[in-house]
Amino acid sequence: MENMEKRVVDYLRVSITDRCNLRCRYCMPDKGISLVPHSETLRYEELLRVVACAARAGIQKIKVTGGEPLVRRGVLGFLEKLRGIKGIRQVTMTTNGILLPQFLPQLAQIGVEAVNVSLDTLNPETFRAITRRDGLADVLRGIDAALTLGLRIKINAVPIAGLNEDELPALAELAKDKPLDVRFIELMPIGCGAAFTPVKTDEVRHRLEQAFGPLMPWEGRRGNGPARYVSVEGFAGKIGFISPLSHSFCRTCNRLRLTATGLLKPCLASGNAVPLWPLLRTGAGDAQLTALLEKTITQKPLAQDFAQMNASCPEQKKMAQIGG
Ligand code: GTP
Ligand code: 5AD
Ligand code: SF4
Repeated sequence: MENMEKRVVDYLRVSITDRCNLRCRYCMPDKGISLVPHSETLRYEELLRVVACAARAGIQKIKVTGGEPLVRRGVLGFLEKLRGIKGIRQVTMTTNGILLPQFLPQLAQIGVEAVNVSLDTLNPETFRAITRRDGLADVLRGIDAALTLGLRIKINAVPIAGLNEDELPALAELAKDKPLDVRFIELMPIGCGAAFTPVKTDEVRHRLEQAFGPLMPWEGRRGNGPARYVSVEGFAGKIGFISPLSHSFCRTCNRLRLTATGLLKPCLASGNAVPLWPLLRTGAGDAQLTALLEKTITQKPLAQDFAQMNASCPEQKKMAQIGG
C-alpha cells in the first residue's frame, strides 16, 4: 500500500544562517530583505542539541547549509563539535564558495569530507549579473584548493533561460579535467525563483549530448541527495541532474530540514513546519525533543508537486532561510 512504503530518513540539512554574501537574483532580493533577528537564530549549542537528538531518531548524515554557512561567526568550532556527535557519520556542506579559500584547510582538518559549491557561470560579468556581487575568482580558487586537499567537490549549477543557458557545456566541462561532479538543478518556483524560467533537465541533457555525445547512465553513488548521474566519455567526474520539476524524486527522499530559527521542515516545498524552538527555549528534555523528531520523520509526506507550488505563499518565499 502506498502510505506504508518504507523510507529511511537518515539525512538532516541544517541551515545555520539566513545571511548570505551574495544576492543571487533567483534566491534573494538585493535590498529590503527581512533578515531573521539574531535572537531568533538558534545558538550553536541549540543546533548541536537538536542534531544529537536527531541522531537518536536515526539521522546519520548532516548537510550544513545557509544562506551561506561560512558567513556565520564561529562556524569552524560548530563543525568540529558536529563531527563529534555520537551517531553522526558524515558532515558535509553546501556553500557559494566565496569564502572557501579563507576556510581551507581547516575544513579538511575538521573532517568535512565533501563540499557542494554553487556556481552558475564561468563568466565574471554573468557572475555579477546573477549574484549582484563579484567573486568568481575566489570561488574558482576555492574549488581548486579543496580538490588539492582531497575534499570531494560537487558543483551546483541552476540553468536559467536568458541568464546562463549558453554556458551549460562550459560548466559541464569543469568535470572533464577536474575530479569533481557538476550537477544541474531545475530552478524551483520558490520565492524570487518564480520570476525566472528554468531550463529543464531534458533540455540540458539534449544540449550536453550535442556538445559531448551520448550521456551514459551511471548508477553508482555520489552523495546522499536526489541527483541522478551520467558519465561522459573522457570526463574525470560525473554529470548530475536534480530534477524536482520534471522527474519527481519525493518517493525516495531521505531528508528533513532544520532552519536557523528552529523550524523542522519535512519537505522543502511543504508549508508545514514543526517548531522545535519552543521546546529548546522552554526547558523541554532531550526525550521530548527526540520524540518530536521521530514523529516528524514518520509523518514525512510522500509527495510534493513543485510545478504546482503557489509561489505567493509567504512560507515559500525564503529559499535562503530553508537552506536549499
Ligand atoms: P548530496 O548529493 O549528498 O551532496 O546532497 P544534495 O544534492 O541534497 O545537496 P545540495 O545541498 O547541494 O543540494 C542541491 C540542491 O538540490 C538543493 O539546494 C535543492 O535545490 C535541491 N534539493 C536537495 N534536496 C532536495 C529535496 O529534498 N527536494 C527538492 N525539491 N530539492 C532538493
Ligand atoms: N531552485 C533550485 N535551486 C535553488 N537554489 C537556490 N534557489 C533555488 C531554487 N529556487 C540553489 C542554489 C544552490 C543551492 C543551495 O540551492 O543555487 O546551489
Ligand atoms: Fe546566497 Fe545561495 Fe541564495 Fe545565492 S543561492 S543568494 S549564494 S543563499
